[in-house]
Amino acid sequence: MGFRSTEERKVHHLRISLEEDVESKASTGFEDVHLIHRCLPEIDPEEIDLKVEFLGHTFKAPLFISAMTGGAPEAKMINANLAEAAETLGLGMCVGSQRAALENSGLEDTFSIVRERAPKAFISANIGFMELPRLDEKNIELLIKMVEADALTIHLNALQEMLQYDAKPSFKSLKSSLESLVRSLDIPVIVKETGCGISSEDAAFFEEIGVKALEIAGLGGTSWSAVEYHRNLRMGKMDLAKVAKTFWDWGIPTVAAILEARSGSRLPIIASGGIRTGLDVLKALVLGARLGGLALPLLRPAIEGPDRLSSFLKNIIEEIKIGLILIGAKKVEEASEKPFILTGLMAEWKRQRDLIGRKRISPGTLTSVIKEESLDQ
Ligand SMILES: Cc1cc2nc3c(=O)[nH]c(=O)nc-3n(C[C@H](O)[C@H](O)[C@H](O)COP(=O)(O)O)c2cc1C
Repeated sequence: MGFRSTEERKVHHLRISLEEDVESKASTGFEDVHLIHRCLPEIDPEEIDLKVEFLGHTFKAPLFISAMTGGAPEAKMINANLAEAAETLGLGMCVGSQRAALENSGLEDTFSIVRERAPKAFISANIGFMELPRLDEKNIELLIKMVEADALTIHLNALQEMLQYDAKPSFKSLKSSLESLVRSLDIPVIVKETGCGISSEDAAFFEEIGVKALEIAGLGGTSWSAVEYHRNLRMGKMDLAKVAKTFWDWGIPTVAAILEARSGSRLPIIASGGIRTGLDVLKALVLGARLGGLALPLLRPAIEGPDRLSSFLKNIIEEIKIGLILIGAKKVEEASEKPFILTGLMAEWKRQRDLIGRKRISPGTLTSVIKEESLDQ
């Protein structure tokens, strides 16, 4: 496939995400997570410490700008604005897939602009798992150098690959390609999904091979089946559009994916997929995530300009702060020690999957035990 097709695909994805309804109709599960209100918090808003450590970097708030774009001229300005927000607010960011820039070096600046605008922020490079068998050492080096990356994110998008009329996926041997890449790199590798979540079994595998963090990107936010449904419709590929519609709401809901990843591994988790408010972020932190990640909700503000984007993100940060006070936590780190109630599908999910089971808790993680006990009652 020529490089034009990757670039064109990126433009289609951006346009469809802006113009169509591409969100899952299934829920993230956050409505089943209930935090316990503390009516005498004894904490003043200015005392709240939002700082959080992630892969050796200190973020000023527990927020991550999830991978979105690059690889098309339209994307350069979006990436510049996202990077500026990451830098000024002290957050982290992952660029979109850099495949297009590997195929056409003329597109490198649509990614490298990120490091120009965010010289100090945590920035992750990004490539899809399907590319791994084709990439050599030089390619990987280039991806990392392009954004002077602090980490390399490998995104997993098996469902989307099968719904693209212009892709011919082969999933064989990707596990071993991933394993040898992880073992050969001296910067941390983050594995992320793209809207279908990560199971406990897969999380355990990733930890075992040396992956350093997971972005679970669960069901409940952007649906790549929805994006590909619209793309197939636009291209007259009606049969594949029908298949894409069938899988519109496929995946592990974000809340369940956080629980799954926590039970399968002890890796730091970026919770994403349908995170839309600071309260969603807070619930994710209480469930054990390290950061909350957003993609789609940032796209329009990023196009509208840096001020619009920054005020959108500041609002989310303000909501996290208010929420922390209301659960009686002075620091972000304390959130994961707070109790919660699970109801409905998420409680049933946990019950049937036996998540955060006693046998999988490492000795000394009192937090998990307390939570498990509060869940068992
Ligand atoms: C327009 C757009 C482009 C995206 N491109 C990528 C990509 O190139 N690589 C990737 O790993 N994830 C990509 N994603 C997925 C997001 O990083 C995220 O996992 C997913 O959208 C769920 O988060 P959300 O519900 O907040 O959008 C993209 C998302 C959007 C909306």
